[in-house]
Amino acid sequence: MRPTPTRARALTAAAVVGVVAATGAVAVATSASAAAGCRVDYSANQWSNGFTGNVTVTNLGDPISGGWNLTWSWAGNQQITQGWSATIAQSGANVTATNPGWASSLGTNGTANFGFNANYSGTNAAPASFSLNGTVCNGSTGSPSSSPSTSTSPSTSTSPTTKVDNPYAGARGYVNPEWKAKAESVTGGSRVSNNPTAVWIDRIAAINGTSGSSSNGSMGVRDHLDAALAQGAGYIQFVIYNLPGRDCAALASNGELGVNELPKYKTDYIDPIAAIQADAKYKALRIINIVEIDSLPNLVTNVGSQAGATATCDTMKANGGYVQGIGYALSKLGALGNTYNYVDAAHHGWIGWDSNFGPTADIMLEAARASGNVKNVHGFITNTANYSALRELFVQPSTSVNGQSVRQSKWVDWNQYTDELTFAQAFRTKLVSIGFDSGIGMLIDTSRNGWGGAARPTAASTSTNVDTFVNESRIDRRIHAGNWCNQSGAGLGERPTAAPASGIDAYVWVKPPGESDGSSTLIDNDEGKGFDQMCDPAYAGNARNGNSMSGALPNAPISGAWFPAQFAQLMANAYPAL
Ligand code: BGC
Repeated sequence: MRPTPTRARALTAAAVVGVVAATGAVAVATSASAAAGCRVDYSANQWSNGFTGNVTVTNLGDPISGGWNLTWSWAGNQQITQGWSATIAQSGANVTATNPGWASSLGTNGTANFGFNANYSGTNAAPASFSLNGTVCNGSTGSPSSSPSTSTSPSTSTSPTTKVDNPYAGARGYVNPEWKAKAESVTGGSRVSNNPTAVWIDRIAAINGTSGSSSNGSMGVRDHLDAALAQGAGYIQFVIYNLPGRDCAALASNGELGVNELPKYKTDYIDPIAAIQADAKYKALRIINIVEIDSLPNLVTNVGSQAGATATCDTMKANGGYVQGIGYALSKLGALGNTYNYVDAAHHGWIGWDSNFGPTADIMLEAARASGNVKNVHGFITNTANYSALRELFVQPSTSVNGQSVRQSKWVDWNQYTDELTFAQAFRTKLVSIGFDSGIGMLIDTSRNGWGGAARPTAASTSTNVDTFVNESRIDRRIHAGNWCNQSGAGLGERPTAAPASGIDAYVWVKPPGESDGSSTLIDNDEGKGFDQMCDPAYAGNARNGNSMSGALPNAPISGAWFPAQFAQLMANAYPAL
């Protein structure tokens, strides 16, 4: 049988909207508002101290002739330096954009589009409201609060009871200020620090925020939601990560709850998070919950008589703690009109073999059914906190070398997939075929799967030996695809992007780049985290990684803690390059 590579871990999130400009600028914003009589779609493509704004105003009222102006006030210190397709004047925080001479009328349902460049410091929140010729734009012509509007963007106009198909589309992602500060503490970090990353709620104390901890920020769930509102974000990403007997096949991210603490998981962890997310104050935010990394697939690959089996995985399979815990989380967190559950689905180097693929889909369905309704699952995420390449351009399962399929190589080892994009798309098809909603979408964590830099192959190898060919041609430069801890040579991957490919809701940065996967030696801590030898660069491996070297970076702190040397490497090897 297959070796059963284990885990995946780490990852990211981020978001996107619109266009990501070159050189590290991040697409930010898009939100709309409008008044009886008008609607505004606003987006900002920002970098560390400046941004380009794009504004589209739609006249929903009587036809306008003889000129129009659109006014708004900044909540922060934004200063417009240049505009186009409108004459833009700013006085203090107040901005007036006046029609260009050649376009002084705006018919009913007519639109005008203009743009500008601006400077800012601190937070670049989107304007809270706009007025067209003095009328506040609220997006509808009739009673503003009754009819759901699907034509405007998320933050102010989506009906709170209607989930959108892709919560990442047309919405700006929340930038976690605590991660941003860490990223900017490393030289060059401001090139990427405005990307959205996920907020990990990795223990009960993280709900209210922790203090003095080595690995978590002081902001709690409410603090992040409030900050997202202040940023004018369209969506925010949380990782729900605290199952009883957490991370049963590895030690680095073992958690605080024992194998029998399912009741505590429900009452002390899921219930309070659901209560906060349900606050009406946050109903205009799309709240994305990434549900329980590295859990259900372990019940398929690391149990029973398999080489990678562990006692804790056997226990969690037998006592139902993972399936019931996830079912509970899905039902509680999926009940709201503005929350979106994405369940973790490992990565191709873990469940890409036939023996793992179908059974993993089946256990996903079991957990979804335990929630009472499979529609509580909006989609799935692959490669969370892992390093699998998005695309293997030169090594596809159909590639053959000298009459031999690359599937015969030691690296591929008969896996049906060689990269995350094809795997995620195929797994989506499988999940729909067994009973998940046909509208489910996939996320791929691209926070650390870039594999750029000098070692990145630019062409297929010319070797006729299948192993040499694969090793010289593959984008993923790991020693073994089962390696998962602080991988040497890895780079940042695709920046967060909405709807990048068929069936994919977004490329996201769920593992915040620069946060460790686990300590390289035992470090005492109060978070339940153990020491996993897969994080020791001197470790020669086990059954789950083909008895290969771990490929881990040295001197790493405990999982979740800031690891500046890793962040510097990730930037240096980013692909696309920064
Ligand atoms: C750790 C968490 C951390 C997360 C994000 C996980 O491996 O166990 O504590 O929040 O990574 O860095």
